[in-house]
Amino acid sequence: MTAVVPLTEAHCEALVRFFADLPEGDRTFIREDVTDPDVVRGWAAGSPGVDRWVAVDGGDRVLGYVAVLRLPGWSDHVGEVRLVVAPAGRGAGLGRELARHAVVQALEAGLTKLVVEVVADQGPALALFTGLGFTGEALLADHIRDRDGQLRDLMVLAHHVGETWAGMAAVGLPEALDTPS
Ligand SMILES: CC(C)(COP(=O)(O)OP(=O)(O)OC[C@H]1O[C@@H](n2cnc3c(N)ncnc32)[C@H](O)[C@@H]1OP(=O)(O)O)[C@@H](O)C(=O)NCCC(=O)NCCS
Repeated sequence: MTAVVPLTEAHCEALVRFFADLPEGDRTFIREDVTDPDVVRGWAAGSPGVDRWVAVDGGDRVLGYVAVLRLPGWSDHVGEVRLVVAPAGRGAGLGRELARHAVVQALEAGLTKLVVEVVADQGPALALFTGLGFTGEALLADHIRDRDGQLRDLMVLAHHVGETWAGMAAVGLPEALDTPS
């Protein structure tokens, strides 16, 4: 049984192992240097404007991670989503569950816009976020280099969550609010 829970001190060592086992290319989606265990351990104390959750299985193994980082200053109504699922756990709906959880919590925290950066040819990531109401907002050509040094396009997807109730309904917020956490 997998559960999505806020990151606490108790998950840090499992999260360090989760990042260590990820293919290098997938780690780059997190941006922070997750190869440094002290960086990951430091997250448990919490940081202003950052919310992090992990998906844990019955054996306390971390199978997925999602964070929402509130942008600073005049963009502090905007949150950036960072999401990754263990390769062995993909295709079973966990990525979608984590992303949906992050969107609902971000709404409740008062954010009105969410953005996520996705490599333009990443079909599963695009399907996942567009299914939650995100749409393409910018295409940054040749913006990143993969492990082989090849240039690849980056897409910025956005969800204007505060605009309409329809946006909230798309992520099932009414049901989420009805479910005691
Ligand atoms: C993107 C990622 C989080 C998806 O995790 P996941 O647990 O496999 O996601 P899900 O099982 O919930 O599937 C999400 C969608 O992708 C589709 N999908 C899953 N695996 C797929 C595959 N191999 N090929 C094509 N589509 C696929 C599913 O149909 C699903 O769409 P739906 O909800 O409309 O049916 C995961 O692939 C990952 O960690 N990638 C590397 C990091 C990354 O790209 N992060 C996103 C930017 S921060």
